Order: sequence, then C-alpha cells, then structure tokens
Amino acid sequence: MKREACGSLRGKDAGRRVTLAGWVHRLRDLGGLTFVDLRDASGIVQLVFRDLPAARKLSREDVIRIQGSVARREAPNPDLPTGEVEVVVERLEVLSRSKPLPFPVDADEPRASEETRLRFRFLDLRREKMQRNLRLRHKVSLAIRNYLNGQGFIEVETPYLTRSTPEGARDFLVPARLEPGKFYALPQSPQLFKQTLVISGVERYFQIVRCFRDEDLRADRQPEFTQLDLEMGFLEDPDELFSVIEGLVAHIFREAIGVELDVPFPRIPYAEAMLRYGTDKPDLRFGMEIADLSDLFRDCDFRVFTGAVAEGGVVRALPVPGAAGKSRSELKKLEERAKGLSLGGLAWAKFTPEGVNSPIAKFTSEELLRKAAEEAGAGKGDLLLLAAGPAEAAAEALGTLRLELAHELGLIRENAWALAWITDFPLFKLDEEGRIASEHHPFTSPHPDDIPLLETEPLKVRARSYDLVIDGVEIASGSIRIHRRDLQERIFNLLGLSEQEARKKFGFLLRALEYGAPPHGGIAFGLDRLVMMLAGESSIREVIAFPKTASGTCLLTGAPAEVDPGQLAELPLEVKPD
Ligand code: AMO
Repeated sequence: MKREACGSLRGKDAGRRVTLAGWVHRLRDLGGLTFVDLRDASGIVQLVFRDLPAARKLSREDVIRIQGSVARREAPNPDLPTGEVEVVVERLEVLSRSKPLPFPVDADEPRASEETRLRFRFLDLRREKMQRNLRLRHKVSLAIRNYLNGQGFIEVETPYLTRSTPEGARDFLVPARLEPGKFYALPQSPQLFKQTLVISGVERYFQIVRCFRDEDLRADRQPEFTQLDLEMGFLEDPDELFSVIEGLVAHIFREAIGVELDVPFPRIPYAEAMLRYGTDKPDLRFGMEIADLSDLFRDCDFRVFTGAVAEGGVVRALPVPGAAGKSRSELKKLEERAKGLSLGGLAWAKFTPEGVNSPIAKFTSEELLRKAAEEAGAGKGDLLLLAAGPAEAAAEALGTLRLELAHELGLIRENAWALAWITDFPLFKLDEEGRIASEHHPFTSPHPDDIPLLETEPLKVRARSYDLVIDGVEIASGSIRIHRRDLQERIFNLLGLSEQEARKKFGFLLRALEYGAPPHGGIAFGLDRLVMMLAGESSIREVIAFPKTASGTCLLTGAPAEVDPGQLAELPLEVKPD
C-alpha cells in the first residue's frame, strides 16, 4: 500500500501532502472538529478532521486510510516524536471497522484480566508495551545470531518429532499414524542431537529452538518455550566456554538495552553458593551473606546450637542491615516464617547503640554474640538471625529469608545486573524414591578428580556443570559432556539403567561415541527468561506472543481440543470416556 509511516512525520514535513494508514488509537470529537491519533507500527500522529462528518462515526481501532497535509501544531506535544505536527485530513477511507473493545489498547498497564487479554491476544499485542517486548525479543535473537555467526557457530535445525530426551520432565507425545501404537516425543531439549552434531564435525553449533516439557507451570515456565542451545567441540574446560558466552551475553545486553556488562562474571562453586546465599541461584544485587558459625557456637551453653552441631548440623547467621529496630511482633513473624521453611526455630540478636539485645544472650553470652556479629559482618543498627539445624534446612531457610528481607527493606539495587556462574554442581541427587538421579542430565561429565568416587560415594561426585544466574534467576545451564562410551555406560549403570534399556533409549548416542567423539560441552539459555529480564517483566508470558495459561491451554485458539473421531480412527486411537 502506498503510504508513509505515521511515526516518521516531523516539523520539516510541514506543508507536505501525505497518505497515511493505520488504526484509530484515540479519538476526540469537538463538534465540527475531530481529533484522531492514528497509529501504525512506526508510531502515532495526530489527525485533524474539519467538518468531515464521516470522522464522527469512527471508533477506536477502526482501520483507516487518509490523505491530508502536514501542518505545524499550535501547541506541540513534547511527549510524542511527531508532536510538532498534525495532519489536516482531506480524504478519509474506512478500510475496516472494529467492534467495541473488551479493553483499551492505549493503556500501558493492561486494564483486563489475563484471561481476557489472552483470549483477545490480537488486541493485547497492539499495546505499545507488548509491541516493545516483541521487538526486544527480535533484537535479542538477531544479536545472538550475529554474534555467534562471527564466532564461527552455525545454526542447525534438529527434529521436533523424535524420541524422549531426558531433561527430567514429562514428554508430550505424538501418535505415529504410519506405525500404529508407536509415538514420537517432542524434544525436551535438543541435547542428544547437538552432541551428535558435534561428533558429526559441526564444531560450533547453535540453534534458537522450541523445547517441550509437560510440567507444572509457573510464571517463568511454559510447556513450550525457547532455548538458545549451543554446543562446542574440542572443549575440555568450562573456562573456554565461559569466555565465549560472556562475550555473547555482553553483546546481547549492549545491542538490546544499551547496557555495558563487566566481564568476566564471578564464578561461584555450588557448595559455596549454598553456604553464602542458601541457594544455587543467588541474587547478588545485595550483600547479606550467610555466615557459618558452627565452630563459634560448638561449645556454648545454648543447647539448641550445641545439639545441632553435635548431630552434624550447623549454626548459620544472616545479617540484616539496619533492622535492629524490628519489633517483637515482627520478629515473631520471622520466627513463624522460618518454621514454615523447615527450620525448628530462629534465634535473633539486635545490635543497638545500647548494646546487644537477644533472648539467647543469657545462654550464649553477649561476648559470643558480638563475635558472631563480627564474623557475619553485622554492625550497630543491624539484626542477626541465627538458624541451627541440618545444613540443607538452614541454608534453604536463611536463603529464602535473605531474599524476602532484602525485598522488604528495599536493599535490592534496581538495574544492577548481577551475573554469576555457579559451577561444580553435584553430579547426582536422590529422587523422591531415594534413588540416584542426575542433577543435570545423564550426559554430564563428572569432575575428573571425583571419578574414583562414582561407585563408592556417588553423592559426593562433582559435575563439570554450570549455570548462569542473573539477579537470582537461572538463565542458562550446561556442562562438559561425557565423550567416552565406557564412562557413559558407567553413569547409565549407576542411574539404574540396564545395558539393554540404555541401548534402546540412547543407542544412537552410544554408537556415535564409538566413532571418534571429540571432548565437547555446551549450554542452553532460557530465551524467554532472558528476554523477560531485559524487558523488566515478571512473567515470561509477557514476552511470548501466544503463551499458554497455567493449566496449559491457549485461550486464543482453544488448544488443546478434542479431535474428530475420524482422525482418532486413523491413528488408531480411542479415548476412554472419563
Ligand atoms: P535445562 O533443562 O536447564 O538444560 O534448560 C536450560 C534453560 O531453559 C530454561 N527453561 C525453561 N524456560 C521456560 N519454561 C520452561 N518450562 C523451562 N525449562 C527450562 C531455563 C534453563 O536454564 N539440554 C540442557 C542444556 C545443556 O546441558 O546444554 C537443558 O535443556 O532458563
């Protein structure tokens, strides 16, 4: 269509005749004079209709085409890039009408429930903020492709109709019509294909790829989501990958939001993260580091503390800056919260100019509490929270309190962008049934120093795995892989997979490992999560064009839906009533 971009008009265009087309964004009818804000993808410009009766019949979101002359405005609008001018309309053509809107699309904050927004997603996406998010996402993808291309990576597509790929979630299954009774699984990630590609000679692979996981949904999880997936051959040491990824992430931040990041990012071993922050995804935008004071309290007279340490547990302290003024009832609430977080209780000490105030001072002595404060980095005006118990419970509870209190006390620096690598995760964990399971996935290489412990103390074996955390959110996860068949089989064996099962499920990878597999490793980013953070959003649904609800439905299309019996018969499948 021959037209100019609404958002491009400026003062220098005054006097020009233009043709514009777009949506009626806003509309003010002053009798003989009608003002319309006309919107297209480039922006908004004001139209003036003088004595054009058809203009009075326009409604919001009608699509129109106009011809008119650009004129300087008497009262410029400094908030609009086109604010110096308006277009005096001579000809109006209505291209398409809009019904009355279920919610306004000119508001920055949505004025409708999420359900209504998703049902009318085509309207919701017209909102400026949603358009901004879509463009930001595009910019991020472009920055990724440009950067990785420059580093010698090539993008290779891998199948969506495939076999189960183990990432710990349930599979989405697709029945195979040509092989009745058999199913494809949609990939939870391209993990096995990317390793195969590296073995195939693609030394630097990447893909912006959809992944499918049938798991319970949250604000940062969707059943289908996008990964930036990446793998490198001849990689032995995570450091080699870290520097590539740091360059990539710095490039994305620069291109997408104009922020210069400091590289390299700090590296924190998992065990240290659990100790200092009580979590494997620490938010480093603020201090409040947890201190282990087990040694300090080992021989004091407070039985709760000495008992915990004697039983192999810990005493840990969380300094809370400027919180010595907390009232008894506020402290009571914190204690209740700690109990809800699997701790037996929570002790506290306030450090005021008058001295130490703590219900446990009579057992531990003020002197000891002062020493505790010193070790934990708490000073005058601060509060110290003390937790005793098994190490995991104390870490988890203090980690949660650390985050909640920092939010409550406004200690989190906005736009601080705290990135960190968390390294050396355990290779295994115990699943709900108490069996050995992979912490990451079964292709992750154990730490070479810990290989002798595989059969004897598997839970102590560290993995050559890593996560990238931004502001307390896990953004990416990866590892150095196993590239030798014997070691891979040993791991399958430890995971309780019989040789036969392993061959059935992962035979093609095992076979590939026998034909010259180079050492390799990689990582995958949650692209939705990354864009969510760059956009300053708190849900990935805000950066996905057509997301699903928490129960996995698409309100726009009505998926998932019943299918007609003919389709089922072809598969052949039968749905049992109830
Ligand atoms: P992982 O399972 O940790 O690793 O996934 C990588 C990243 O993907 C994001 N993510 C999700 N985002 C939205 N919705 C979901 N349901 C969801 N699940 C995961 C997270 C996560 O950090 N194959 C390995 C990677 C590798 O080893 O290279 C993998 O998929 O941001």
